[in-house]
Amino acid sequence: MRAGRQLKIKYYVEPDPAALARRAAQYFVEMAGEAVAGRGRVRIAISGGSTPKAAFELLADPDQPWRWRMPWEQLDLYWVDERIVPPDHPESNYRMTREALLDQVPLRPEQIHRMEGELAPEIAAARYESELRNSFHLEGAESPRFDLVALGMGEDGHTASLFPHTQAIHEMSRLVTANQVPRKDTWRITLTWPVINHASSVFFLIAGVDKAAILKEVLTGPRDPERLPSQLIWPASGILTLILDKAAAALLPATDGEGCGFLERER
Ligand code: 6PG
Repeated sequence: MRAGRQLKIKYYVEPDPAALARRAAQYFVEMAGEAVAGRGRVRIAISGGSTPKAAFELLADPDQPWRWRMPWEQLDLYWVDERIVPPDHPESNYRMTREALLDQVPLRPEQIHRMEGELAPEIAAARYESELRNSFHLEGAESPRFDLVALGMGEDGHTASLFPHTQAIHEMSRLVTANQVPRKDTWRITLTWPVINHASSVFFLIAGVDKAAILKEVLTGPRDPERLPSQLIWPASGILTLILDKAAAALLPATDGEGCGFLERER
Protein backbone atom coordinates (compact mmCIF):
# COMPACT_ATOMS: atom_id res chain seq x y z
CA MET A 1 0.00 0.00 0.00
CA ARG A 2 1.69 3.27 -1.07
CA ALA A 3 1.32 6.42 0.98
CA GLY A 4 -1.15 8.88 -0.51
CA ARG A 5 -0.76 12.60 -1.06
CA GLN A 6 -2.80 13.53 1.99
CA LEU A 7 -2.06 12.81 5.62
CA LYS A 8 -4.77 13.18 8.26
CA ILE A 9 -3.26 13.91 11.65
CA LYS A 10 -5.21 13.40 14.89
CA TYR A 11 -3.69 14.42 18.19
CA TYR A 12 -4.97 13.75 21.68
CA VAL A 13 -3.92 16.36 24.24
CA GLU A 14 -3.74 15.16 27.83
CA PRO A 15 -3.26 17.50 30.81
CA ASP A 16 -0.01 15.94 31.99
CA PRO A 17 2.42 13.03 31.41
CA ALA A 18 0.50 10.72 33.76
CA ALA A 19 -2.70 11.26 31.77
CA LEU A 20 -0.72 10.79 28.55
CA ALA A 21 0.50 7.43 29.86
CA ARG A 22 -3.07 6.35 30.65
CA ARG A 23 -4.30 7.37 27.19
CA ALA A 24 -1.32 5.53 25.66
CA ALA A 25 -2.02 2.36 27.66
CA GLN A 26 -5.63 2.50 26.50
CA TYR A 27 -4.50 3.01 22.89
CA PHE A 28 -2.15 0.03 23.03
CA VAL A 29 -4.96 -2.16 24.39
CA GLU A 30 -7.55 -0.93 21.86
CA MET A 31 -5.26 -1.31 18.85
CA ALA A 32 -4.05 -4.72 20.04
CA GLY A 33 -7.63 -5.85 20.55
CA GLU A 34 -8.57 -4.75 17.03
CA ALA A 35 -5.62 -6.61 15.51
CA VAL A 36 -6.38 -9.81 17.40
CA ALA A 37 -10.06 -9.59 16.47
CA GLY A 38 -9.04 -9.27 12.84
CA ARG A 39 -6.09 -11.64 12.57
CA GLY A 40 -5.81 -13.59 15.80
CA ARG A 41 -2.37 -12.09 16.42
CA VAL A 42 -0.87 -8.65 17.03
CA ARG A 43 2.60 -7.42 16.21
CA ILE A 44 3.73 -4.20 17.87
CA ALA A 45 7.03 -2.34 17.51
CA ILE A 46 7.91 -0.06 20.41
CA SER A 47 10.41 2.74 20.87
CA GLY A 48 12.64 3.43 23.80
CA GLY A 49 13.36 6.70 25.55
CA SER A 50 11.58 8.04 28.63
CA THR A 51 8.08 8.90 27.38
CA PRO A 52 6.72 5.38 26.80
CA LYS A 53 8.08 4.01 30.11
CA ALA A 54 5.11 5.17 32.20
CA ALA A 55 2.69 3.63 29.69
CA PHE A 56 4.58 0.32 29.82
CA GLU A 57 4.39 0.42 33.63
CA LEU A 58 0.62 0.91 33.47
CA LEU A 59 0.27 -2.02 31.05
CA ALA A 60 2.21 -4.16 33.53
CA ASP A 61 0.45 -2.99 36.70
CA PRO A 62 -1.86 -5.73 38.08
CA ASP A 63 -3.90 -3.01 39.83
CA GLN A 64 -4.69 -1.37 36.51
CA PRO A 65 -7.31 -2.57 33.96
CA TRP A 66 -4.97 -2.54 30.98
CA ARG A 67 -2.85 -5.40 32.41
CA TRP A 68 -5.90 -7.67 32.12
CA ARG A 69 -7.19 -6.35 28.78
CA MET A 70 -3.99 -6.68 26.76
CA PRO A 71 -3.99 -9.89 24.64
CA TRP A 72 -0.54 -10.98 25.85
CA GLU A 73 -0.92 -14.52 24.54
CA GLN A 74 -1.39 -13.25 20.96
CA LEU A 75 1.29 -10.53 21.09
CA ASP A 76 4.64 -10.45 19.30
CA LEU A 77 6.76 -7.57 20.56
CA TYR A 78 9.44 -5.88 18.45
CA TRP A 79 11.57 -2.78 18.80
CA VAL A 80 11.72 0.27 16.53
CA ASP A 81 15.33 0.92 17.39
CA GLU A 82 18.12 0.11 19.82
CA ARG A 83 21.30 1.56 21.08
CA ILE A 84 24.52 -0.34 20.39
CA VAL A 85 24.92 -1.51 23.99
CA PRO A 86 24.39 -4.83 25.79
CA PRO A 87 20.81 -5.64 26.88
CA ASP A 88 21.61 -4.95 30.55
CA HIS A 89 23.17 -1.54 29.84
CA PRO A 90 21.40 1.52 31.38
CA GLU A 91 21.04 2.98 27.85
CA SER A 92 19.40 -0.15 26.44
CA ASN A 93 15.81 0.26 25.18
CA TYR A 94 15.35 -3.46 25.83
CA ARG A 95 16.46 -3.08 29.46
CA MET A 96 14.01 -0.19 30.00
CA THR A 97 11.21 -2.32 28.55
CA ARG A 98 12.22 -5.42 30.54
CA GLU A 99 12.17 -3.46 33.81
CA ALA A 100 8.96 -1.51 33.06
CA LEU A 101 7.01 -4.30 31.36
CA LEU A 102 8.52 -7.64 30.38
CA ASP A 103 9.41 -8.82 33.88
CA GLN A 104 5.78 -8.38 34.94
CA VAL A 105 3.73 -9.78 32.04
CA PRO A 106 3.20 -13.31 30.66
CA LEU A 107 5.15 -13.19 27.39
CA ARG A 108 7.05 -16.29 26.32
CA PRO A 109 10.66 -15.72 25.11
CA GLU A 110 9.66 -16.47 21.51
CA GLN A 111 7.17 -13.57 21.65
CA ILE A 112 9.95 -11.08 22.40
CA HIS A 113 11.99 -10.06 19.35
CA ARG A 114 14.94 -8.18 20.79
CA MET A 115 17.41 -6.13 18.74
CA GLU A 116 20.87 -7.44 19.64
CA GLY A 117 22.55 -4.18 20.60
CA GLU A 118 25.51 -6.11 21.97
CA LEU A 119 26.63 -6.93 18.42
CA ALA A 120 28.43 -4.76 15.88
CA PRO A 121 25.88 -2.37 14.32
CA GLU A 122 25.84 -3.83 10.80
CA ILE A 123 25.59 -7.39 12.16
CA ALA A 124 22.81 -6.45 14.59
CA ALA A 125 20.90 -4.74 11.76
CA ALA A 126 21.32 -7.69 9.39
CA ARG A 127 20.27 -10.18 12.06
CA TYR A 128 17.17 -8.16 12.93
CA GLU A 129 16.26 -7.93 9.27
CA SER A 130 16.45 -11.74 9.15
CA GLU A 131 14.36 -11.94 12.31
CA LEU A 132 11.69 -9.80 10.64
CA ARG A 133 11.80 -11.83 7.41
CA ASN A 134 11.47 -15.10 9.32
CA SER A 135 8.87 -14.07 11.89
CA PHE A 136 6.70 -12.25 9.31
CA HIS A 137 7.27 -15.06 6.78
CA LEU A 138 8.27 -12.47 4.18
CA GLU A 139 9.05 -13.41 0.59
CA GLY A 140 11.15 -11.44 -1.90
CA ALA A 141 10.78 -7.67 -1.49
CA GLU A 142 7.83 -7.91 0.91
CA SER A 143 7.85 -5.50 3.84
CA PRO A 144 6.65 -6.43 7.34
CA ARG A 145 3.34 -4.87 8.27
CA PHE A 146 3.26 -4.14 11.98
CA ASP A 147 -0.20 -3.73 13.47
CA LEU A 148 1.08 -0.87 15.59
CA VAL A 149 4.28 1.16 15.77
CA ALA A 150 4.84 3.39 18.80
CA LEU A 151 7.26 6.26 18.23
CA GLY A 152 8.75 9.07 20.24
CA MET A 153 10.28 12.31 18.98
CA GLY A 154 13.46 13.99 20.11
CA GLU A 155 13.98 17.74 20.58
CA ASP A 156 15.93 17.66 17.32
CA GLY A 157 12.98 16.21 15.42
CA HIS A 158 14.39 12.68 15.23
CA THR A 159 12.21 9.63 15.59
CA ALA A 160 13.23 5.99 15.91
CA SER A 161 16.96 6.34 15.33
CA LEU A 162 16.45 8.47 12.25
CA PHE A 163 18.50 11.49 13.30
CA PRO A 164 18.87 14.72 11.31
CA HIS A 165 21.42 14.58 8.49
CA THR A 166 22.24 10.91 9.01
CA GLN A 167 22.46 8.13 6.46
CA ALA A 168 19.43 6.18 7.66
CA ILE A 169 17.15 8.95 6.39
CA HIS A 170 18.02 7.85 2.85
CA GLU A 171 17.73 4.07 3.42
CA MET A 172 14.65 2.88 1.59
CA SER A 173 15.44 -0.69 0.55
CA ARG A 174 16.52 -2.33 3.80
CA LEU A 175 14.07 -3.18 6.58
CA VAL A 176 16.59 -2.45 9.32
CA THR A 177 19.75 -0.37 9.13
CA ALA A 178 22.70 0.65 11.26
CA ASN A 179 22.96 4.40 11.63
CA GLN A 180 25.96 6.41 12.75
CA VAL A 181 24.90 9.40 14.85
CA PRO A 182 27.90 11.78 15.01
CA ARG A 183 26.05 14.24 17.25
CA LYS A 184 25.77 11.52 19.88
CA ASP A 185 29.12 9.97 18.94
CA THR A 186 27.38 6.62 18.68
CA TRP A 187 25.73 4.03 16.45
CA ARG A 188 22.13 2.86 16.57
CA ILE A 189 20.09 0.29 14.72
CA THR A 190 16.65 1.25 13.50
CA LEU A 191 13.67 0.18 11.45
CA THR A 192 13.74 2.16 8.24
CA TRP A 193 11.01 4.71 7.64
CA PRO A 194 9.33 2.75 4.79
CA VAL A 195 8.84 -0.16 7.23
CA ILE A 196 7.36 2.16 9.86
CA ASN A 197 5.04 3.74 7.27
CA HIS A 198 3.84 0.31 6.11
CA ALA A 199 2.32 -0.35 9.55
CA SER A 200 -1.45 -0.51 9.95
CA SER A 201 -1.23 2.15 12.65
CA VAL A 202 1.53 4.50 13.75
CA PHE A 203 1.40 6.79 16.76
CA PHE A 204 3.73 9.17 18.53
CA LEU A 205 3.96 9.66 22.28
CA ILE A 206 5.38 13.12 22.99
CA ALA A 207 5.55 15.04 26.26
CA GLY A 208 7.17 18.18 27.57
CA VAL A 209 7.53 21.85 26.78
CA ASP A 210 10.93 21.21 25.15
CA LYS A 211 9.16 19.37 22.31
CA ALA A 212 6.54 22.07 21.57
CA ALA A 213 8.47 24.13 19.03
CA ILE A 214 9.93 21.21 17.09
CA LEU A 215 6.57 19.42 17.07
CA LYS A 216 4.90 22.47 15.58
CA GLU A 217 7.60 22.61 12.89
CA VAL A 218 7.27 18.90 12.13
CA LEU A 219 3.49 18.97 11.84
CA THR A 220 2.84 22.38 10.30
CA GLY A 221 6.15 23.63 8.85
CA PRO A 222 7.68 23.19 5.41
CA ARG A 223 8.75 19.68 4.50
CA ASP A 224 12.42 19.23 5.40
CA PRO A 225 12.97 15.60 6.45
CA GLU A 226 16.77 15.91 6.42
CA ARG A 227 16.47 18.37 9.28
CA LEU A 228 13.18 16.98 10.68
CA PRO A 229 13.22 13.20 10.23
CA SER A 230 9.88 12.83 12.05
CA GLN A 231 8.38 14.26 8.84
CA LEU A 232 9.35 11.00 7.13
CA ILE A 233 6.56 9.32 9.08
CA TRP A 234 3.66 9.29 6.65
CA PRO A 235 1.73 6.06 7.24
CA ALA A 236 0.39 4.32 4.15
CA SER A 237 -2.99 4.35 5.91
CA GLY A 238 -3.01 8.14 5.46
CA ILE A 239 -3.60 8.56 9.18
CA LEU A 240 -1.14 9.60 11.89
CA THR A 241 -2.05 9.67 15.56
CA LEU A 242 -0.24 11.51 18.33
CA ILE A 243 -0.77 11.37 22.07
CA LEU A 244 0.61 14.54 23.62
CA ASP A 245 0.64 16.31 26.91
CA LYS A 246 -0.49 19.93 27.12
CA ALA A 247 3.06 21.23 27.25
CA ALA A 248 4.15 19.51 24.05
CA ALA A 249 0.94 20.56 22.27
CA ALA A 250 1.18 24.20 23.40
CA LEU A 251 1.90 25.59 19.90
CA LEU A 252 -0.56 23.42 17.98
CA PRO A 253 -4.09 24.52 16.99
CA ALA A 254 -6.58 24.27 19.84
CA THR A 255 -8.38 20.98 20.42
CA ASP A 256 -12.12 20.30 20.27
CA GLY A 257 -14.33 19.64 23.29
CA GLU A 258 -12.94 16.11 23.65
CA GLY A 259 -9.30 17.20 23.77
CA CYS A 260 -8.62 16.17 20.16
CA GLY A 261 -6.91 18.27 17.50
CA PHE A 262 -6.83 17.71 13.74
CA LEU A 263 -4.37 18.72 11.04
CA GLU A 264 -3.87 17.77 7.40
CA ARG A 265 -0.71 17.73 5.31
CA GLU A 266 -0.35 17.46 1.56
CA ARG A 267 2.71 15.91 -0.04
C1 6PG B 1 15.38 6.02 21.54
C2 6PG B 1 14.03 6.22 20.93
C3 6PG B 1 13.96 7.63 20.43
C4 6PG B 1 12.98 8.31 21.34
C5 6PG B 1 13.11 9.80 21.26
C6 6PG B 1 12.24 10.48 22.31
O1 6PG B 1 16.01 4.99 21.31
O2 6PG B 1 15.75 6.91 22.32
O3 6PG B 1 13.64 5.32 20.06
O4 6PG B 1 13.54 7.81 19.11
O5 6PG B 1 11.66 7.90 20.99
O6 6PG B 1 14.47 10.13 21.49
O7 6PG B 1 12.72 10.08 23.56
P1 6PG B 1 11.96 10.54 24.90
O8 6PG B 1 10.67 9.78 24.92
O9 6PG B 1 12.90 10.11 26.00
O10 6PG B 1 11.78 12.02 24.80
